[in-house]
Amino acid sequence: MVRGAPPMAAASVVAVLAAYLAVVTGVSPTGAAAASVIKTSGEMRRWHPVELNLVDGPWASESDANNPFLNFRLTATFTSPAASSRKYVIPCFWAADGKAAHTGATAGSVWRCLFTPDQTGMWRYAIEFKSGVGVALKSSGTGTPVTPFDGQIGSFRVSLTNKTGRDFRGKGKLRVVPPKRHLRFDDGEFFMKHGADSPENFLGYRGFDGSAAGKHAYAPHVGDWRRGDPTWGKSADNSKGIVGAVNYLASVGVNAIYAMPMTIDGDAKDTWPWTSARDVWRYDVSKLAQWGLLFDHMDAVGVVLHMVLSETENEELFERADAQVDRHGFSDARRLYYRELVARFGAKNGLVWNLGEENGWADGSGQVNTDSQRKAFLGHFAGLEPYGALLALHTFPADKQRVYTPLLGWSSPLTGASLQVAAWPNVHKETIQWVHASAAAGKPWVVSVDEIGGAGVLTDAETPDHNRERRDVLWGALTAGAAGVEWYSQRYDQTLESYRDFERLWATTDRAMRLLTDARVPYWEMGPADWRIDGKANWALAGKEAILAYLPRGGRARVWLTSPGAWTVGWFNPRLGGTAALQGVRTIIAPTAGGRAVVLGTPPRDGNKDWVVLLRRNGASTAPPPPPSQPALPPSAPSTVDGPFALYVFDTVTGKDVKGPLMASVTLRRADLPAWFSIRADRRPGSSTIGGVRFLVNGAAERVEMIEPFFIAGDFQGTVFPWTKSPCVPTTIEAVSTASGDRSTVRARFVC
Ligand SMILES: *[C@@H]1O[C@H](CO)[C@@H](O)[C@H](O)[C@H]1NC(C)=O
Repeated sequence: MVRGAPPMAAASVVAVLAAYLAVVTGVSPTGAAAASVIKTSGEMRRWHPVELNLVDGPWASESDANNPFLNFRLTATFTSPAASSRKYVIPCFWAADGKAAHTGATAGSVWRCLFTPDQTGMWRYAIEFKSGVGVALKSSGTGTPVTPFDGQIGSFRVSLTNKTGRDFRGKGKLRVVPPKRHLRFDDGEFFMKHGADSPENFLGYRGFDGSAAGKHAYAPHVGDWRRGDPTWGKSADNSKGIVGAVNYLASVGVNAIYAMPMTIDGDAKDTWPWTSARDVWRYDVSKLAQWGLLFDHMDAVGVVLHMVLSETENEELFERADAQVDRHGFSDARRLYYRELVARFGAKNGLVWNLGEENGWADGSGQVNTDSQRKAFLGHFAGLEPYGALLALHTFPADKQRVYTPLLGWSSPLTGASLQVAAWPNVHKETIQWVHASAAAGKPWVVSVDEIGGAGVLTDAETPDHNRERRDVLWGALTAGAAGVEWYSQRYDQTLESYRDFERLWATTDRAMRLLTDARVPYWEMGPADWRIDGKANWALAGKEAILAYLPRGGRARVWLTSPGAWTVGWFNPRLGGTAALQGVRTIIAPTAGGRAVVLGTPPRDGNKDWVVLLRRNGASTAPPPPPSQPALPPSAPSTVDGPFALYVFDTVTGKDVKGPLMASVTLRRADLPAWFSIRADRRPGSSTIGGVRFLVNGAAERVEMIEPFFIAGDFQGTVFPWTKSPCVPTTIEAVSTASGDRSTVRARFVC
């Protein structure tokens, strides 16, 4: 594009001035210099998508020799003075004529950035727009500036949302909030998933452009489309089946849908984001814009998109299609795929990402990702995804140990496990296993039960009561600390057309979800604690304020309360029919002796069927948690101590390090420490510190060590002396350089 643009520096100065004046005067800054080439659109409200449109950008077409997906890199950086610590770097995309969902355009000059602001008031943005061969995948700064856009800055203001109810625009982004293992919206509401896993080829829908191969029309849901709902393409009927299906699911309490953007080479083979099933370098702009309208509608009716990035049979698709594979087995074609998806859909509030279905080991397809690939993919994706959305992974039932273990803790950016469990009765214990393993590794995962073995669930006509689904899977997962369930049906996994065939399954699940919300069960503060209820088959989820117990066969049981005093107990019938209110509500007093065990008595009726018991400590707050003052930061590894030294806990008997490098603030449980131990300070690699170490404990001199290794109680000819003074109180341990006085400080809480 050739155009008379002001010199860039001048344009920037004007924009900065306009932004500054807007702050000073409170006048809307729309009209800043950037607005002449960059148009802001949207409702300009917090948690509603904001578009920046470069309406007169470089003209391109999907099939251009100069590939518009690969040879341009448009990125916008958004900052808000209200959250100055946080900066959003958003990958942007080429949008053809800007309304391709409706026109089907394959060419045009509109380039777009989609962003969801999480603060009210002023936002500033800065644009980077570069061209050059393959620059889409290169780092910031590289490439030839695309004038007059590159370097433009501007600003806009957003007001409060005016949405309420299920609409996610009234709640904000759904994010991971460590150390919790449940997702939370920015408004403070926690999220428990009730999802539809089948059909896995949800997007294999013939009403989208370029989707004639789609197996789905969702004809039974056309009547669920409502006036005002999205339409696209030439015919108003194009959208009705799939939008109606979403409406139906929302109406029965389903709040998540599993969807794969590519099913080629897999089971259904009917979905891909490209202009043809094989061209991994060229994206179908109008098809993706139509997906975007559908996803926006999902946000409006309160349904999370569970975006599953590959299928087991195509997990190596990009590496096979692209000769440029790096040493991790990571192709540029995959990098482009991740970038395009994050750019086009990442702004959606209700979105969770899943690296892949049945990812991992040999499945007969010959396509296998390795540990090193998974780490490289996760690391790259987490670097692109700006909001801190969930990043989960699904694998085979028997491969969980092999695939998940190397990703635990801070060794990878994985934040969730999307479990497949072969035998339904194992759901409870396998969920607990990953809830515990991830917590023990220092970063609790969001664990969801997304696929169950065998034929999966069957229709209401086949299994009207869904007894096993409810007992083994739904309540097995909920009482294990799961962040939700999704229903998978092998028999209908590519062919499901009417979600009404499972109406009683949705209703059963919704009944459980309503108990959690209506009774304000603080599940985010509770963890699996089966030992709190007797009876081998009974399960309990417990926290300080509440206990949720499940008795698959009813009967009598005792519960061990978590604190003394008065508790209120009530019975809940998890089966359809009859009241969904708590029954037999009474107050019980935790006995002071006997470990606070109380007898529950028998269920109000149907004493041998499954029952839920909810116990609440009297006086416990039932208010929802307050919204966080700032949106959660994406999880990042806690930092180890600053300064010249790294500190370790050393077992003086085995001669091995048992903990470390220690964090700046750490709890050390005596029970987790060896009987005889010491603390060692190592010079950090690259540290220029010379001389020895002066150890201080609570500010008082403990010991000076001039010769390495530096141990807090000294060492002699290879024998390390145990530190016998380790106290049982908060203790500050400092390692100070005798040469420079620089220090590394650990605030340790010894729990004895
Ligand atoms: C919210 O505000 C937008 C304009 O920003 C308006 O179009 C819409 O009707 C409003 N919705 C409600 C529920 O008030």
